[in-house]
Amino acid sequence: MFRQGWLQDLMMKRPAVSRFAVPDLGIGVGYRVPHYRQVVEEQPEMDWFEVLSENFMVDGGSPRHWLRELAKRYPLVLHGVATSLGGEGDPGHLRRLAALVAEVRPPWVSDHLCFTGSHTANAHDLLPLPYTPEVRDHVIGRIREVSEAVGTLYAVENVSSYLSWKASEVPEWEFLTQVVEGADCGILLDVNNVFVSSVNHGFDPMEYINNIPLDRVVQIHLAGHSIKDGYRLDTHDGPVCDEVWELYAAVIQRMGSVSTLIEWDGDVPEFSRLQQEANQARTIRDAALLALV
Ligand SMILES: [Fe+2]
Repeated sequence: MFRQGWLQDLMMKRPAVSRFAVPDLGIGVGYRVPHYRQVVEEQPEMDWFEVLSENFMVDGGSPRHWLRELAKRYPLVLHGVATSLGGEGDPGHLRRLAALVAEVRPPWVSDHLCFTGSHTANAHDLLPLPYTPEVRDHVIGRIREVSEAVGTLYAVENVSSYLSWKASEVPEWEFLTQVVEGADCGILLDVNNVFVSSVNHGFDPMEYINNIPLDRVVQIHLAGHSIKDGYRLDTHDGPVCDEVWELYAAVIQRMGSVSTLIEWDGDVPEFSRLQQEANQARTIRDAALLALV
């Protein structure tokens, strides 16, 4: 059975600036296949885990076993990659997601502010949207539909991008703000994605941070990225870079401590290396908070 009580305990710790009744889970990492057994059997030090929803949207079997065992030991939240909020809804996907949420009962569920293809083709990628009123209204409707189906707080994540649409009428941060206010949902702020896109598109990342409703941020993502042909690629295959740490500190100084997750999905290292990266996040978060006093 899933462990009871951790959510109530953690509700005592909440982000200083938040319009939602969400806990500050601390610093966590993604639950990845190479670490399942070690995490369950050794219970290494880690505040919480983020679980990729689609990996566990199956009936029984090995994935659900490892999820149940994780949930007995650590707080966790669900994060998806296939809801395609900019596209058409998939009733089967939504039904399976809702069933998983009902079993795990996370404090929030998230997916990306993007589309992943059309009803005839799946790009298997998180594609940026045109920032227009029509797309905004469509996405708001989709978020409301998904939120109602899962029955818990929903948060949307900003994606990294390498191209933009000529049709876009507002900058990304304004589109994000219009969407989350229209849908009354949370933000999963990926600080690395803000930085990657700021370099690729030539904007000031602090302009992004200063122009979104930080009281809607329920979680932060941090990750490493690569540089190729002058572009920053969101590869999640290495440590967080200095510029992203600085941006993270700036966010914490503006909104207080908030649940933070290290994403490391390519060339996945030993779990102890993830713990080091989480400790680095903890050190930077605490220094940013101290600077506020
Ligand atoms: Fe992310």
